[in-house]
Parts: sequence; C-alpha cells; structure tokens
Amino acid sequence: MRPLRILFVAPEIEPFVKVGGLADMVGALPKALAAAGHDVRMVCPAYGSLRVTGEWTAREEPLGVEVGARTHWARTWQTMLPGARVPVYFLEHEAFFGRPEVYSGPWGAHGDNDLRFIFFSRGALTLCEQLGWIPDVIHCHDWTTGFVPVFLNTTLHGTPLGRAATVFTIHNLEHQGYADRRALEFARLPPTEFRSDSLESDGAVNLLKAGLYHATKLTTVSPTYAHEIRTPAGGCGLDDVLNFRGADLVGILNGIDTDVWDPATDRHLPANYSAGDLEGKAACKAALQARLGLARDPHIAVFGAVSRLAAQKGLDLLAEALPYVLDRMHVQFAILGTGDPGLEHAFRSAAAHYAGRVGVCVGYDNSLAHLIQAGSDFFVMPSRAEPCGLTQMYAMRYGTPPVARATGGLVDTVTQFTEGRQDGATGFLFQDANAPALYHTIGWACATYYDRPAELLALRRHGMARDFSWRASADRYLDLYRWAVDARNPLPSNTVAPD
Ligand code: ADP
Ligand code: GLC
Repeated sequence: MRPLRILFVAPEIEPFVKVGGLADMVGALPKALAAAGHDVRMVCPAYGSLRVTGEWTAREEPLGVEVGARTHWARTWQTMLPGARVPVYFLEHEAFFGRPEVYSGPWGAHGDNDLRFIFFSRGALTLCEQLGWIPDVIHCHDWTTGFVPVFLNTTLHGTPLGRAATVFTIHNLEHQGYADRRALEFARLPPTEFRSDSLESDGAVNLLKAGLYHATKLTTVSPTYAHEIRTPAGGCGLDDVLNFRGADLVGILNGIDTDVWDPATDRHLPANYSAGDLEGKAACKAALQARLGLARDPHIAVFGAVSRLAAQKGLDLLAEALPYVLDRMHVQFAILGTGDPGLEHAFRSAAAHYAGRVGVCVGYDNSLAHLIQAGSDFFVMPSRAEPCGLTQMYAMRYGTPPVARATGGLVDTVTQFTEGRQDGATGFLFQDANAPALYHTIGWACATYYDRPAELLALRRHGMARDFSWRASADRYLDLYRWAVDARNPLPSNTVAPD
C-alpha cells in the first residue's frame, strides 16, 4: 500500500515541550508510523521556554498567517524528532508564543489562548502550503487544534489542502477551549459557522466541539473512555455531539515509548533491572528513600505517585486517606506532583507531619518520575476520570503494580488481582471515587506485600511482561487514516472501485 503523508498538529511534543501525557503520545506514535515507512511531519508552537540548539535551522521564508485584521508573520524553525526520521516544525511568534508557558501562567490560563491557538492552527496549514507538501491526513490533538478541520471545511475548501482528511484525537474532554465570538472573526471564518451543529456551544465558541463536528474521523485514547464520553455522566456536556458522530469515533489505546521507559536501560536509575532479575529494583528503592528523605528500610512497602495535581487525577482522595493509612499501616509514600496549590500544601504538610514516612517533591522532575516508578512497590492512581493514563503503564513495566480507580484507560490496561489466582493480574482496582475505597485498596495491596510475597512477585512479572509498545495501536491508527482518506475523497459515483 502507498505510504501516507501524515501531519501531526500538536500543542506539546516530548522531548521538546510537555505538560502531560499528550506530549508523550505525540512524541511516540510518529516514530512507529515513520518506522512503518510513512512520511510523518509535525508542527508545534515555539514557546519561549524552548531552547534553540545547533540542530535547529530557521527557514528563510517568513510565514504569513492570515488571521485577524492583518497578516501575522511567523518564523519557522525545523529540527528532527530524536530517534526518528520525522521533521518537526516550530512556529515562532513573539506576541502569541514568546512567553514560556504552554496554557497558563502564574495567574491562570492565558486570556488570549483562543487567539494563540487559532493562529497556530491556521499557521500549521499555511506552512503545508508554503512547503508544497499536502498531507493525506492531518492528525489533530485536543481543543487547541479544533479549528484545523474547520478551516479545511470552510476557508480552504476547494484548495488542494482542503482534500486532506482530518483525524481528531480527544486526549481529555474536560478542556474544551471556550472563547467568545471574537475567535470567529479572528479566524476569518464565516459567521454562519456560529451554530450549534458547528462550533457554537452555550452562546460561546467551543474549539473542541468545532473539531468534533468538522473532523473526518474521531478517536480517543482508550476503548473504555470512548464509551464513557458518550454518556451524560462522562460526556462533559458533549455526549450528544459524540453520539451524533458515534459511527466515526473509535477508542485506540495509547502505547508507551518503550525505549524511554525501560527499566533495563533507563539512565535515570542508579541500577537497571528486568523481569528475570529484579535485584536492581532494591537499589532504586534505596535511592528513592534517600532522595525524598524517607527512612532507609528495604522491607517497608513504598507507594509512589507522579501526577498533575488536578481534580481529574483524584490526588485529593489520597491526601484525605493519607492520615488513616499512615496511622494504621506500615508504609511509606513517595509523591511527585504540581498543580492545585491547596493540594501542594496538603502534601507538604503531610511530609512535615510524617517525617521519614512521606516524601514529597512539589514540582516537575522527569528524572524523579522515573525513580519513583522504579523505586516504589506500588503506584497510586485514584483518577476520577482517566482517558488513557500512561503512568500506570510505566509502573507496570517497572514492576510496580498500580493501585488505581477503575475508570477509562485504567480499566483497559490494569488487570485486577484475585488472591490465589495466577491469571495474569497486574494491579489493584477500585470502583468508587472516594477516600475509603482508596484506603481499603491500599490496605489490600499492603496485605499482599507482607503476606503473599510470591503472588506479589507474579503481579510484578505479569506487568513487566505486558506489551505496551505502540506496535498494535500504530496499525490501528493507520487503518483509521486510510478510512479517513477514503471518506474525505470518495470515488465519483460512476467509478468502479478497484479490487
Ligand atoms: P495526564 O496526561 O493526564 O497528566 P498521563 O498519565 O497520560 O496523565 O501522563 C502524565 C505524564 O506526565 C507522564 O509522563 C508522567 O510521568 C508525567 N508527569 C506528571 N506529573 C509530573 C511531574 N510532577 N514531574 C515529572 N513528570 C510528571
Ligand atoms: C490526557 C489524559 C491522559 C492520557 C493523555 C495522553 O492528558 O488525561 O489520560 O493518557 O492525555 O493521551
């Protein structure tokens, strides 16, 4: 089959800029697609925090992006995705992207996010025209790219680029990108698009909804989440739209970058290990205890957590359960996170109150994230909602069974443990999003640790043996891309389809 030209338009790409798992997904899937022989390219904003290195080249020709009342000029940088034959283009524009942060600064979300990302979406398409490189498929990610499919269906309809199919991936339905009508004018879209079966929602412009209506095909990052978002309870107000587009929506489970997340080769760890030889995991545990000021004890059960501190992640349930757990169980906690100031404070206070038993790092620290995955005995993930979740997969690959709430991608990736059964279980799941349920499940994991070491070892090994690579899911995306291309460019009715 003919190789495809695929453009990724994304607000974050690991290893260049990352806020959450979207960056990991977008940094890994193109590698698998390029390895399969496809022409994959990517475009991302050049945030002020990005460091231009010698491997970056600036394109000579400035990029004139037609948004707002005048043409906005951008500079384009080009580099390669490390470890792959995938060009990455960064759009530099001081007013929109000169500041260091992606979505929000010290005072919350940037007030001009609608304009920033509409400029970016339009700019990504202008870049294709400038390069003379017309993709077969444009793969968009979350609300920031919601106007890409709209441009192709309106302003660019009838141009060569307008033939490109779009695949829109929902990484998180909770962030929708609400804007007022100025967004429509800034994008130079026809005012007639301001309607409920296009981009209007509750009297405002909704960038995510725009993407959901206009993209050729829709995906989300796990089969269970694909089901949940079509219900009133999980639809974040968009379940009607998602049901309307239900025939075009599929859930494809994320893979992980198995080169970056591999306990056998991980350079962030003091010792490496594998399923066959877990000895190095003990050295990681000792290093973790030292790093976070935990009492040095090789025999105590250590529970780790690495997370954005946001309501979605349910870490407030952990904060609530923590005193009860610590007063009754022989355990330690290693917590890394940043986000909600109240929660940051709660974890810092717990670390002060339970010195030597709770180790907390407030902030973003990739190296420590690797060490927590390796050095912990269990990984806590009490998410209220979890579209896919990558950290539980990293944990399983590092022999650290998750203690996780049964929601979204956690259901699709963690297999529930049952005492006395060796059936490929990999972790502990609980149903209710409340502190008592988490407390009991931590207790269950703790009892397994002290009373059933052979079964715990089997749990670790099962998780480590799982194939979390992108192989299977990349094939599913390729099927979907071809399906989207065919849907976008149907054969004329008097043409006989080739066999
Ligand atoms: P989400 O995208 O909802 O935050 P995921 O599990 O998909 O959740 O991905 C989170 C990613 O961000 C993982 O790679 C995880 O290791 C990383 N991460 C989250 N918080 C931190 C932190 N404080 N420091 C370093 N890495 C973090
Ligand atoms: C989002 C979701 C997370 C998912 C990630 C990558 O940030 O919250 O569950 O793993 O995107 O798709």
